[in-house]
Amino acid sequence: MRVDGRDAAAVARAAGLLAAGELVAFPTETVYGLGARAGDDAAVAKIFALKGRPAGHPLIVHVAGRAEAERFGVLSPLAERIVDAFWPGPVTVIVRRVPGAAEAAAAGQATIGLRCPAHPVAHALLVAARDAGVPGVAAPSANRFGRISPTTAAHVVEEFGDELLVLDGGAAQLGIESAIVDCSRERPVLLRPGVLTPERLEAALGAPLAGAGPGAPRAPGTLESHYAPRARLRLMSTQMLKTALEMLGSDPLKLAVYSRSVPSGVATGVRHRRMPARPEQAAHELFAVLRELDNDGVHLIWVEEPPPGPEWDGVRDRLSRAAAA
Ligand code: TXA
Ligand code: MG
Repeated sequence: MRVDGRDAAAVARAAGLLAAGELVAFPTETVYGLGARAGDDAAVAKIFALKGRPAGHPLIVHVAGRAEAERFGVLSPLAERIVDAFWPGPVTVIVRRVPGAAEAAAAGQATIGLRCPAHPVAHALLVAARDAGVPGVAAPSANRFGRISPTTAAHVVEEFGDELLVLDGGAAQLGIESAIVDCSRERPVLLRPGVLTPERLEAALGAPLAGAGPGAPRAPGTLESHYAPRARLRLMSTQMLKTALEMLGSDPLKLAVYSRSVPSGVATGVRHRRMPARPEQAAHELFAVLRELDNDGVHLIWVEEPPPGPEWDGVRDRLSRAAAA
């Protein structure tokens, strides 16, 4: 059931459900999350069951602030720099886990992912939950395993139906998931790019960030294929997209095109959505556009590759994983 997340009574009700070991969906500035009481292994198991998420994929624990974070993890000096610079905000730190804390949420790992979201509804929920004895809320994105992450309350209902309580906080402002920085090692590693650029993270860390390139350590549960629409998505260079559309001629197939340029000679009947020229705007609408095109029943989605440059890393990462399905 969708309820207004700005309503204090709705937030109190959601916090009560979390305290009772039930699941609740809530908005964050990145994407919507599917939350459970982090310390309650049975509640956390419900997340895995509802999402169809394989065991061994650890969840991020969401907290109201640093004091709550320290119930779950030991903030290393690197983590402290990220926390001081960006919390509340769209970055998750991986740190050593406090032994015995949030065992199931961490999928048994010796480390834990911690995030303090900036969305006012998320923050209100985390404060209310804390005051109800729930210092942390384990929450993955509120979508079925492998599918497109939700950026609106309606997307969450589309994924899980009307049984689940969903706090509606409007469209997620950023639109792609938090950057994940592993601060549990000697050197920081960017495990997942987000909207915050590597440059900004490095400036706060005072150290170069190893990327999640080939050979770099990988977050458990980070898969090559993810965010998959039902349609087949292909990423193409500007030139390749142009050529392919010319070859297509007047046959529209069941095709959608998402590109910065408006390709000339697109057959009538081909759905076209224009990709914004600014990376923040592209991130903001990315998952909603993929969902919309998918719901239109197209068989193919052809996407023009984003321009080079680190400010596009987050969008490029999500698109290349959506294309790997
Ligand atoms: O923006 C976000 O981070 C959203 C919102 C809801 O906060 N959450 C999110 O959660 O994206 P999820 O479960 O879809 O992605 C969490 C990822 C895991 O797949 C894994 O790669 C990484 O976080 N992760 C979590 N705990 C970890 C750990 N202890 N070590 C390494 N990676 C971890
Ligand atoms: Mg996810």
